Amino acid sequence: MEEQPLGRGQKVLRLGAIGLVVAGIAAGFAWVGGWLTPGRLTQARVIDGFEAANGRHAGFRRNHAKGVCATGWFDSSGAGQRFSKATLLAPGRVPVVARFAFAGGMPFIADAPGLVRSLAIQFKPVQGEEWRTAMIDIPLFPFADVDAFYAQMVAATPDPATGKPDPRKMKAFAAAHPDFVAAGAVIGKRATSSGFANSTYNGLNTFLFVDRDGRQVPVRWSAVAVQPFAPAGAQDRADRNYLFDGLIADAARQPLQWKMVATIGDAGDAVSPNVAWPDARQRVELGTVTLDRLASEDGGSCTDINFDPTVLPSGITTSADAIPSARSAAYARSFLLRERERAAKPPSAVTETEVRQGGKS
Ligand code: HEM
Repeated sequence: MEEQPLGRGQKVLRLGAIGLVVAGIAAGFAWVGGWLTPGRLTQARVIDGFEAANGRHAGFRRNHAKGVCATGWFDSSGAGQRFSKATLLAPGRVPVVARFAFAGGMPFIADAPGLVRSLAIQFKPVQGEEWRTAMIDIPLFPFADVDAFYAQMVAATPDPATGKPDPRKMKAFAAAHPDFVAAGAVIGKRATSSGFANSTYNGLNTFLFVDRDGRQVPVRWSAVAVQPFAPAGAQDRADRNYLFDGLIADAARQPLQWKMVATIGDAGDAVSPNVAWPDARQRVELGTVTLDRLASEDGGSCTDINFDPTVLPSGITTSADAIPSARSAAYARSFLLRERERAAKPPSAVTETEVRQGGKS
Protein backbone atom coordinates (compact mmCIF):
# COMPACT_ATOMS: atom_id res chain seq x y z
CA MET A 1 0.00 0.00 0.00
CA GLU A 2 1.28 3.46 -0.92
CA GLU A 3 2.22 5.68 2.04
CA GLN A 4 0.02 8.75 2.47
CA PRO A 5 1.54 12.03 3.69
CA LEU A 6 0.62 12.71 7.35
CA GLY A 7 -2.16 15.16 8.05
CA ARG A 8 -1.46 18.06 10.47
CA GLY A 9 -3.39 16.35 13.30
CA GLN A 10 -1.51 13.09 12.85
CA LYS A 11 1.82 14.97 12.81
CA VAL A 12 0.99 16.70 16.10
CA LEU A 13 -0.03 13.34 17.65
CA ARG A 14 3.16 11.62 16.49
CA LEU A 15 5.41 14.47 17.71
CA GLY A 16 3.50 14.38 21.01
CA ALA A 17 4.18 10.63 21.34
CA ILE A 18 7.91 11.15 20.62
CA GLY A 19 7.95 13.97 23.18
CA LEU A 20 6.37 11.66 25.78
CA VAL A 21 8.97 8.94 25.12
CA VAL A 22 11.83 11.46 25.47
CA ALA A 23 10.31 12.89 28.66
CA GLY A 24 9.92 9.35 30.01
CA ILE A 25 13.58 8.54 29.35
CA ALA A 26 14.69 11.85 30.94
CA ALA A 27 12.49 11.15 33.98
CA GLY A 28 14.09 7.69 34.23
CA PHE A 29 17.55 9.24 34.35
CA ALA A 30 16.38 11.85 36.85
CA TRP A 31 14.95 9.10 39.05
CA VAL A 32 18.18 7.09 38.88
CA GLY A 33 20.15 10.27 39.65
CA GLY A 34 17.93 10.99 42.64
CA TRP A 35 16.86 14.43 41.32
CA LEU A 36 13.16 13.70 41.76
CA THR A 37 13.59 12.44 45.32
CA PRO A 38 15.98 14.79 47.08
CA GLY A 39 15.84 12.69 50.28
CA ARG A 40 17.04 9.54 48.48
CA LEU A 41 20.54 8.27 49.12
CA THR A 42 22.49 8.55 45.87
CA GLN A 43 26.15 7.97 45.12
CA ALA A 44 26.68 11.76 44.96
CA ARG A 45 25.10 12.26 48.41
CA VAL A 46 27.22 9.50 49.90
CA ILE A 47 30.39 11.08 48.48
CA ASP A 48 29.29 14.56 49.63
CA GLY A 49 28.91 12.95 53.08
CA PHE A 50 32.49 11.67 53.00
CA GLU A 51 33.71 15.16 52.01
CA ALA A 52 31.72 16.83 54.79
CA ALA A 53 33.14 14.39 57.35
CA ASN A 54 36.77 14.44 56.19
CA GLY A 55 37.25 17.62 54.18
CA ARG A 56 37.83 17.74 50.43
CA HIS A 57 41.19 16.35 49.37
CA ALA A 58 41.65 16.77 45.63
CA GLY A 59 42.86 13.68 43.81
CA PHE A 60 42.52 11.27 46.74
CA ARG A 61 40.09 8.42 47.37
CA ARG A 62 37.09 9.73 49.32
CA ASN A 63 37.45 6.80 51.72
CA HIS A 64 40.58 4.79 52.52
CA ALA A 65 42.50 7.88 51.44
CA LYS A 66 45.95 7.13 52.93
CA GLY A 67 47.57 4.13 51.29
CA VAL A 68 50.37 2.44 49.35
CA CYS A 69 50.40 0.10 46.35
CA ALA A 70 51.81 -3.43 46.20
CA THR A 71 52.25 -6.05 43.49
CA GLY A 72 52.78 -9.80 43.47
CA TRP A 73 50.90 -12.95 42.57
CA PHE A 74 48.27 -15.47 43.69
CA ASP A 75 49.04 -19.19 43.70
CA SER A 76 45.68 -20.91 43.45
CA SER A 77 45.46 -24.28 45.24
CA GLY A 78 42.55 -25.42 43.08
CA ALA A 79 40.48 -26.23 46.19
CA GLY A 80 37.95 -23.51 45.33
CA GLN A 81 36.97 -25.30 42.11
CA ARG A 82 34.68 -27.60 44.06
CA PHE A 83 32.40 -24.61 44.68
CA SER A 84 33.16 -22.15 41.89
CA LYS A 85 33.85 -22.43 38.18
CA ALA A 86 35.98 -19.23 38.23
CA THR A 87 39.00 -20.00 36.08
CA LEU A 88 41.35 -18.12 38.40
CA LEU A 89 40.51 -20.68 41.11
CA ALA A 90 41.98 -23.51 39.00
CA PRO A 91 45.53 -24.46 40.06
CA GLY A 92 48.00 -21.90 38.74
CA ARG A 93 49.52 -18.46 39.21
CA VAL A 94 47.73 -15.13 38.67
CA PRO A 95 49.35 -11.64 38.88
CA VAL A 96 47.85 -9.29 41.50
CA VAL A 97 47.87 -5.55 42.19
CA ALA A 98 47.03 -4.59 45.79
CA ARG A 99 46.64 -1.57 48.01
CA PHE A 100 47.05 -1.18 51.77
CA ALA A 101 45.23 1.72 53.41
CA PHE A 102 43.45 3.10 56.46
CA ALA A 103 39.68 3.47 56.41
CA GLY A 104 38.63 7.12 56.46
CA GLY A 105 38.88 9.98 54.05
CA MET A 106 41.94 11.78 55.47
CA PRO A 107 45.02 11.23 53.26
CA PHE A 108 47.49 12.73 55.77
CA ILE A 109 46.17 11.26 59.02
CA ALA A 110 48.91 10.14 61.46
CA ASP A 111 49.21 6.34 61.69
CA ALA A 112 47.61 4.92 64.82
CA PRO A 113 47.03 1.32 65.98
CA GLY A 114 43.24 1.64 66.28
CA LEU A 115 42.63 2.89 62.72
CA VAL A 116 40.89 0.28 60.56
CA ARG A 117 43.41 -1.20 58.10
CA SER A 118 42.55 -2.44 54.64
CA LEU A 119 43.86 -4.61 51.86
CA ALA A 120 42.35 -4.41 48.38
CA ILE A 121 43.37 -6.90 45.71
CA GLN A 122 42.87 -7.08 41.95
CA PHE A 123 43.45 -10.64 40.69
CA LYS A 124 44.33 -10.17 37.06
CA PRO A 125 44.74 -13.34 35.00
CA VAL A 126 46.73 -12.76 31.81
CA GLN A 127 43.80 -14.29 29.94
CA GLY A 128 40.53 -14.47 31.80
CA GLU A 129 38.23 -12.52 34.04
CA GLU A 130 39.33 -10.34 36.95
CA TRP A 131 38.33 -10.54 40.59
CA ARG A 132 38.52 -7.38 42.69
CA THR A 133 38.01 -7.36 46.43
CA ALA A 134 38.43 -4.73 49.14
CA MET A 135 38.81 -6.12 52.67
CA ILE A 136 39.25 -4.63 56.16
CA ASP A 137 40.77 -5.89 59.41
CA ILE A 138 37.59 -5.91 61.50
CA PRO A 139 35.46 -9.03 62.00
CA LEU A 140 32.08 -7.39 61.21
CA PHE A 141 30.79 -4.33 59.34
CA PRO A 142 28.78 -2.47 61.99
CA PHE A 143 25.90 -1.52 59.64
CA ALA A 144 23.08 -3.57 58.18
CA ASP A 145 22.70 -1.29 55.18
CA VAL A 146 24.08 1.79 53.45
CA ASP A 147 21.42 4.07 54.96
CA ALA A 148 22.70 3.26 58.46
CA PHE A 149 26.32 3.69 57.29
CA TYR A 150 25.47 7.13 55.86
CA ALA A 151 23.40 8.20 58.88
CA GLN A 152 26.29 7.36 61.21
CA MET A 153 28.73 9.27 58.99
CA VAL A 154 26.45 12.33 59.14
CA ALA A 155 26.06 11.99 62.94
CA ALA A 156 29.84 11.77 63.36
CA THR A 157 30.62 14.73 61.07
CA PRO A 158 32.44 17.42 63.09
CA ASP A 159 30.28 20.37 64.14
CA PRO A 160 31.89 23.50 62.58
CA ALA A 161 31.47 25.35 65.91
CA THR A 162 33.52 22.87 67.98
CA GLY A 163 35.49 20.95 65.34
CA LYS A 164 34.19 17.75 66.98
CA PRO A 165 31.20 15.46 66.40
CA ASP A 166 28.10 16.44 68.36
CA PRO A 167 27.79 13.80 71.14
CA ARG A 168 23.98 14.18 71.15
CA LYS A 169 23.77 13.19 67.48
CA MET A 170 26.10 10.23 68.07
CA LYS A 171 23.98 9.08 71.04
CA ALA A 172 20.76 9.45 69.08
CA PHE A 173 22.22 7.31 66.26
CA ALA A 174 23.34 4.62 68.71
CA ALA A 175 19.94 4.61 70.44
CA ALA A 176 18.18 4.08 67.11
CA HIS A 177 20.64 1.34 65.99
CA PRO A 178 21.14 -1.27 68.75
CA ASP A 179 22.72 -3.59 66.13
CA PHE A 180 25.45 -0.95 65.63
CA VAL A 181 26.18 -0.96 69.37
CA ALA A 182 26.26 -4.78 69.48
CA ALA A 183 28.62 -5.04 66.47
CA GLY A 184 30.77 -2.25 67.96
CA ALA A 185 31.24 -4.32 71.12
CA VAL A 186 32.50 -7.30 69.05
CA ILE A 187 34.79 -5.07 66.95
CA GLY A 188 36.14 -3.35 70.08
CA LYS A 189 37.35 -6.71 71.42
CA ARG A 190 39.48 -7.52 68.39
CA ALA A 191 43.19 -8.03 69.02
CA THR A 192 45.05 -5.40 67.02
CA SER A 193 48.28 -6.63 65.45
CA SER A 194 51.60 -4.76 65.31
CA GLY A 195 51.37 -3.91 61.63
CA PHE A 196 49.80 -4.23 58.20
CA ALA A 197 51.86 -7.35 57.44
CA ASN A 198 50.46 -9.49 60.25
CA SER A 199 46.85 -8.28 59.96
CA THR A 200 44.08 -10.48 58.62
CA TYR A 201 41.64 -8.75 56.26
CA ASN A 202 37.97 -9.73 55.81
CA GLY A 203 35.72 -9.13 52.81
CA LEU A 204 32.65 -9.19 55.14
CA ASN A 205 29.99 -9.01 52.42
CA THR A 206 28.26 -12.19 51.34
CA PHE A 207 28.74 -13.34 47.73
CA LEU A 208 27.82 -16.57 45.93
CA PHE A 209 30.16 -19.18 44.47
CA VAL A 210 28.62 -20.82 41.39
CA ASP A 211 29.90 -24.21 40.18
CA ARG A 212 29.87 -25.73 36.68
CA ASP A 213 26.40 -27.19 37.24
CA GLY A 214 24.98 -23.84 38.33
CA ARG A 215 24.84 -24.78 42.04
CA GLN A 216 25.25 -21.75 44.31
CA VAL A 217 26.61 -21.47 47.84
CA PRO A 218 26.92 -18.32 49.98
CA VAL A 219 30.54 -17.32 50.62
CA ARG A 220 32.56 -14.78 52.58
CA TRP A 221 36.33 -14.52 52.26
CA SER A 222 39.39 -13.35 54.13
CA ALA A 223 43.10 -12.81 53.51
CA VAL A 224 44.65 -14.51 56.54
CA ALA A 225 48.17 -13.30 57.38
CA VAL A 226 50.95 -15.90 57.17
CA GLN A 227 53.23 -13.50 59.09
CA PRO A 228 52.82 -14.43 62.76
CA PHE A 229 50.57 -12.28 64.93
CA ALA A 230 52.22 -9.90 67.40
CA PRO A 231 50.14 -7.43 69.38
CA ALA A 232 50.33 -3.70 68.69
CA GLY A 233 53.12 -2.56 70.97
CA ALA A 234 55.42 0.26 71.82
CA GLN A 235 56.46 1.24 68.30
CA ASP A 236 57.91 4.66 67.59
CA ARG A 237 54.65 6.45 67.09
CA ALA A 238 56.37 9.84 66.70
CA ASP A 239 56.73 8.91 63.02
CA ARG A 240 53.42 9.85 61.38
CA ASN A 241 53.80 6.96 58.90
CA TYR A 242 55.18 4.36 61.33
CA LEU A 243 52.74 1.60 60.32
CA PHE A 244 53.33 2.16 56.59
CA ASP A 245 57.09 2.40 57.18
CA GLY A 246 56.91 -0.89 59.11
CA LEU A 247 55.12 -2.50 56.16
CA ILE A 248 57.73 -1.19 53.70
CA ALA A 249 60.55 -2.53 55.91
CA ASP A 250 58.80 -5.92 56.34
CA ALA A 251 58.33 -6.30 52.56
CA ALA A 252 62.00 -5.34 51.94
CA ARG A 253 63.10 -8.21 54.24
CA GLN A 254 60.99 -10.91 52.59
CA PRO A 255 57.88 -11.27 50.41
CA LEU A 256 54.68 -11.04 52.47
CA GLN A 257 51.96 -13.69 52.25
CA TRP A 258 48.27 -14.11 52.96
CA LYS A 259 46.13 -17.26 52.60
CA MET A 260 42.88 -16.53 50.74
CA VAL A 261 40.28 -18.42 52.77
CA ALA A 262 36.64 -18.84 51.70
CA THR A 263 34.02 -19.55 54.35
CA ILE A 264 31.13 -21.50 52.87
CA GLY A 265 27.76 -20.52 54.34
CA ASP A 266 24.52 -22.44 54.74
CA ALA A 267 21.55 -21.40 52.64
CA GLY A 268 19.86 -19.84 55.70
CA ASP A 269 22.86 -17.81 56.90
CA ALA A 270 22.43 -14.04 57.20
CA VAL A 271 23.78 -12.11 54.23
CA SER A 272 24.12 -8.85 56.11
CA PRO A 273 27.78 -8.09 56.99
CA ASN A 274 26.90 -7.04 60.54
CA VAL A 275 25.89 -10.62 61.44
CA ALA A 276 28.68 -13.19 61.97
CA TRP A 277 28.32 -16.77 60.71
CA PRO A 278 28.67 -19.70 63.13
CA ASP A 279 32.31 -20.74 63.70
CA ALA A 280 31.51 -24.28 62.49
CA ARG A 281 31.17 -23.21 58.84
CA GLN A 282 33.52 -24.92 56.40
CA ARG A 283 36.67 -23.01 55.42
CA VAL A 284 38.42 -23.62 52.10
CA GLU A 285 41.96 -22.42 51.40
CA LEU A 286 41.78 -21.00 47.89
CA GLY A 287 45.51 -20.26 47.64
CA THR A 288 48.23 -17.84 48.71
CA VAL A 289 48.74 -14.20 47.82
CA THR A 290 52.40 -13.10 47.83
CA LEU A 291 53.28 -9.40 47.71
CA ASP A 292 56.94 -8.69 47.06
CA ARG A 293 57.00 -5.08 45.89
CA LEU A 294 55.59 -1.91 47.39
CA ALA A 295 55.22 1.45 45.63
CA SER A 296 53.91 4.87 46.56
CA GLU A 297 50.48 5.73 45.25
CA ASP A 298 52.26 8.47 43.30
CA GLY A 299 52.88 6.51 40.14
CA GLY A 300 51.98 3.14 41.69
CA SER A 301 49.86 0.66 39.75
CA CYS A 302 46.99 0.63 42.29
CA THR A 303 46.21 4.33 41.98
CA ASP A 304 44.08 4.09 38.86
CA ILE A 305 42.21 1.00 40.01
CA ASN A 306 38.71 1.21 41.40
CA PHE A 307 38.53 -1.81 43.74
CA ASP A 308 34.82 -2.16 43.03
CA PRO A 309 33.61 -5.27 44.92
CA THR A 310 31.17 -6.18 42.15
CA VAL A 311 33.93 -6.78 39.58
CA LEU A 312 33.74 -10.57 39.77
CA PRO A 313 34.64 -13.41 37.41
CA SER A 314 32.03 -15.84 36.14
CA GLY A 315 31.73 -18.33 39.03
CA ILE A 316 31.48 -15.64 41.72
CA THR A 317 28.42 -13.39 41.90
CA THR A 318 26.65 -10.95 44.22
CA SER A 319 24.05 -12.26 46.68
CA ALA A 320 20.97 -10.76 48.36
CA ASP A 321 23.42 -8.58 50.34
CA ALA A 322 22.63 -5.15 48.83
CA ILE A 323 25.73 -3.39 50.15
CA PRO A 324 28.18 -4.34 47.35
CA SER A 325 26.06 -2.67 44.67
CA ALA A 326 25.82 0.51 46.77
CA ARG A 327 29.58 0.33 47.32
CA SER A 328 30.06 -0.03 43.58
CA ALA A 329 28.10 3.18 42.90
CA ALA A 330 29.99 5.15 45.59
CA TYR A 331 33.41 3.86 44.48
CA ALA A 332 32.63 4.89 40.89
CA ARG A 333 31.80 8.45 41.99
CA SER A 334 34.96 8.66 44.13
CA PHE A 335 37.00 7.30 41.21
CA LEU A 336 35.49 9.81 38.76
CA LEU A 337 36.24 12.77 41.04
CA ARG A 338 39.77 11.74 41.93
CA GLU A 339 40.71 11.03 38.31
CA ARG A 340 39.30 14.41 37.25
CA GLU A 341 41.29 16.17 39.97
CA ARG A 342 44.51 14.37 39.20
CA ALA A 343 46.43 17.55 38.19
CA ALA A 344 45.58 19.21 41.53
CA LYS A 345 46.63 16.25 43.71
CA PRO A 346 49.53 16.91 46.11
CA PRO A 347 52.03 14.07 46.74
CA SER A 348 50.67 11.22 48.88
CA ALA A 349 51.70 10.91 52.55
CA VAL A 350 53.89 7.89 51.77
CA THR A 351 56.14 9.08 48.95
CA GLU A 352 58.15 7.11 46.43
CA THR A 353 61.39 8.27 48.17
CA GLU A 354 60.10 6.85 51.46
CA VAL A 355 59.35 3.51 49.81
CA ARG A 356 62.76 3.43 48.09
CA GLN A 357 64.54 4.20 51.34
CA GLY A 358 62.92 1.17 52.95
CA GLY A 359 60.42 3.08 55.07
CA LYS A 360 62.60 5.89 56.40
CA SER A 361 61.05 9.28 55.76
C1 HEM B 1 31.59 -4.48 53.99
C2 HEM B 1 31.73 -3.17 53.95
C3 HEM B 1 32.92 -2.46 53.33
C4 HEM B 1 34.21 -2.87 53.17
C5 HEM B 1 34.82 -4.21 53.55
C6 HEM B 1 34.92 -1.78 52.49
C7 HEM B 1 36.25 -1.80 52.15
C8 HEM B 1 36.91 -0.81 51.44
C9 HEM B 1 38.31 -0.83 51.11
C10 HEM B 1 39.29 -1.91 51.49
C11 HEM B 1 38.58 0.29 50.38
C12 HEM B 1 39.93 0.73 49.84
C13 HEM B 1 40.12 0.26 48.42
C14 HEM B 1 41.44 0.81 47.93
O1 HEM B 1 42.46 0.61 48.60
O2 HEM B 1 41.40 1.43 46.85
C15 HEM B 1 37.35 1.03 50.26
C16 HEM B 1 37.24 2.22 49.58
C17 HEM B 1 36.10 2.93 49.54
N1 HEM B 1 34.91 2.65 50.21
FE1 HEM B 1 34.48 0.92 51.18
N2 HEM B 1 34.05 -0.76 52.25
C18 HEM B 1 32.83 -1.12 52.77
C19 HEM B 1 31.69 -0.38 52.74
C20 HEM B 1 31.57 0.83 52.15
C21 HEM B 1 30.36 1.56 52.07
C22 HEM B 1 29.00 1.12 52.63
C23 HEM B 1 30.64 2.71 51.36
C24 HEM B 1 29.69 3.79 50.96
C25 HEM B 1 28.55 3.55 50.38
C26 HEM B 1 32.04 2.70 51.03
C27 HEM B 1 32.71 3.67 50.33
C28 HEM B 1 34.02 3.62 49.89
C29 HEM B 1 34.64 4.58 48.99
C30 HEM B 1 33.99 5.84 48.41
C31 HEM B 1 35.95 4.15 48.77
C32 HEM B 1 37.00 4.81 47.84
C33 HEM B 1 36.89 4.18 46.44
C34 HEM B 1 37.92 4.73 45.44
O3 HEM B 1 38.06 5.96 45.28
O4 HEM B 1 38.57 3.90 44.75
N3 HEM B 1 32.58 1.54 51.52
N4 HEM B 1 36.35 0.33 50.91
